[in-house]
Amino acid sequence: QKHLAQAEDWTGRRLLVTAGPTREPIDPVRFITNHSSGKMGYAIAEAARKRGAVVTLISGPTSLDAPAGVEVIPCQRASEMRDRVLERFGECDVLVMTAAVGDFAPADIHKEKIKKSGDQPLLLNLQPTPDILKEVAAHKTHQTVVGFAAESENVVQSALGKLQRKHLDLIVANDISAPGIGFQSDFNQVQLIRGADAIEVLPRLTKREVAGILLDRIRDLMPPARG
Ligand code: CTP
Ligand code: CA
Repeated sequence: QKHLAQAEDWTGRRLLVTAGPTREPIDPVRFITNHSSGKMGYAIAEAARKRGAVVTLISGPTSLDAPAGVEVIPCQRASEMRDRVLERFGECDVLVMTAAVGDFAPADIHKEKIKKSGDQPLLLNLQPTPDILKEVAAHKTHQTVVGFAAESENVVQSALGKLQRKHLDLIVANDISAPGIGFQSDFNQVQLIRGADAIEVLPRLTKREVAGILLDRIRDLMPPARG
């Protein structure tokens, strides 16, 4: 009985998920990126599709296969991910930003491969990238917006700050200093935070299990389906 209900509970909902790292070119052969594997976002996309949602996955470079039935939109730079998200945000009901968006990008991309010059150090001028979630907030109508926060200290405090600053409905916080979870791992240990007195601490689970519980909670936050 419970299984049947769960199999259908996202039917007709349109979910936009971002996943993976971003990649910022320095020159034609080099780039700046991070350790995100994309596993958490792909697990959410796959689980939501199986529960009936129409799912679009905006993905930075990962080694993962597209989940069956999910439209995958590839991107590399943070600015590209932002453009793709803003193009699709208006038509979604829920945005889940699992992507590890790089915070800085080279101010100018060298057209030719940078050459060594003796033992001279190379200085890169890095500029902050656009904050996608903050920009999305300005376009919010009926959408439920969920962020992720990878923290190495003051986990709850930092995540609460992001919840407010980015006008999120929910933020998923994880402590990246804990061993055996997070980046690259198949496991995660997260807290689902809706406010200072609305914090759900989950045990260490597989990313697939975390995805299932997260989709349960988001479903309960969404306004009733329209039409
Ligand atoms: N995020 C975003 N655009 C950025 C950076 C982050 O939309 N340029 C999103 C992430 O996808 C995540 C949430 O914001 O859902 C929190 O990301 P995080 O890196 O933890 O927060 P930052 O605001 O970048 O702050 P900092 O890294 O300095 O802690
Ligand atoms: Ca960041």
